[in-house]
Amino acid sequence: MAEIVEAYTSSIGADARLVEYDIQASIAHARMLGRRSIITKKDADLIIRGLEEIADEWLSGEFTLRPELEDVHMNVETRLTAKIGAVAGRLHTARSRNDQIATDTRLYAMSACADAIGSLIRLQSSLLDLAEANASVIMPGYTHLQRAQPVLFAHHLLAYVQMFDRDAQRFAFAHGMMDALPLGAGALAGVPYPIDRQSVADELSVSNVIANSLDAVSDRDFVADYIYAATLAMVHVSRLAEELILWSSAEFAFIRIPDAFATGSSIMPQKKNADVAELARGRTGRTIGGLVNILTTLKGLPLTYNRDLQEDKPALFDTEDVLLPTLEVFAEMLPKVTINADRMAAAAVANYSLATDIADYLAHKGLPFRDAHETVGKLVRLAESKGVELGELPLADYERMSPLFEKDVLKIDAKASVSARDVPGGTAPKRVQSELRRNRKRIQGYLQPVGAQPPVPVSKKGTNSRSAKPRTKKK
Ligand code: ARG
Repeated sequence: MAEIVEAYTSSIGADARLVEYDIQASIAHARMLGRRSIITKKDADLIIRGLEEIADEWLSGEFTLRPELEDVHMNVETRLTAKIGAVAGRLHTARSRNDQIATDTRLYAMSACADAIGSLIRLQSSLLDLAEANASVIMPGYTHLQRAQPVLFAHHLLAYVQMFDRDAQRFAFAHGMMDALPLGAGALAGVPYPIDRQSVADELSVSNVIANSLDAVSDRDFVADYIYAATLAMVHVSRLAEELILWSSAEFAFIRIPDAFATGSSIMPQKKNADVAELARGRTGRTIGGLVNILTTLKGLPLTYNRDLQEDKPALFDTEDVLLPTLEVFAEMLPKVTINADRMAAAAVANYSLATDIADYLAHKGLPFRDAHETVGKLVRLAESKGVELGELPLADYERMSPLFEKDVLKIDAKASVSARDVPGGTAPKRVQSELRRNRKRIQGYLQPVGAQPPVPVSKKGTNSRSAKPRTKKK
């Protein structure tokens, strides 16, 4: 192969993240070959011991990948040959690099789903911390970015908890979908040896074997599933990021980003920028790009394996490298954000935000809501012409608009407004309290999200270091 082609086709850059999965899958394969007497028990043991040593060498940094050996599979096999000689060549019986790479990538993606769920739960926990610490704070709720009706700040944060809950479920679902073993498909058609695929799956903690060999080596849906789940989670983060950026501006002044999470300007000494949120918003573009990347790679690709599929990994890895650190830094930052409750409360009732409540007051007294809406519309116009808020109008002005108004109408304030919305999903304090409790409980016992079959093991680390986790028990 020409050197320029070698460089062009090598996947070593991405493959470093697959080394341990590759070795664990090879160990399971070798053990099965021995069990089925496809190779001798003695050869299998030699191979397994060699592979276990290579795994240790990889962790200690003694074993490194050589680009001229094209990919992770050739690197491991070459190293094994150096250690145990020609017997190493028996490892590749009844398999191909095509079912190997599909297996490695699946094992990686399954683990990546578990890590994403762990990080999402930590982020939810931080949102709940912030919500609980500010449980009675009222802020303006917005539609069209115009002040609309008062809501509890905690209610607003709980909306994000729901989004991240769905994201965690999407990862759990994706995990369930990818939980099947390609090994045994060979290059594409299956292999002419009496292999036992399920035992290999069992050893690798994979539930099923893929039913069709052609599908096994050509399917990368699971990469798209991961990237889609990650992208939607990033889209949710970016909406939160945008709000943090707005809220921390002088125009809103609802929150202060802690100094440790903000940056200054090299020229403007007074500046404090919400760079973490801005970068999260910006990096969402990378994951959207990753999704377009994998879908475009798969579109129109004839069965079965084509080298195009090598491009799945940069998309998968880059998406993960955006997602996990973003979830982690937000989880760290959110509980440390300080809230300007007075400013939020003042904004919550400004710009006639209680108008709906006054219309509801009339509707409760029997006026059809449409008429109530019109009456309060006139009242707002009157208040506007006088340059005052609704609560600042004298009772006489109300009474002139409708005989149904009595002096208790002047008691309508932000607190009364939120308390009145005492329906499931509403912003009434007692509803929000019970949602805080429900969500707290749910994430504590989350590990079995709805629809996850089987339950997903949630990683506690959440950092991208899963490759240090051996999946195979040493026997
Ligand atoms: N580096 C390849 C990939 O990522 C591994 C499989 C190679 N198979 C092959 N037939 N060349 O897809």
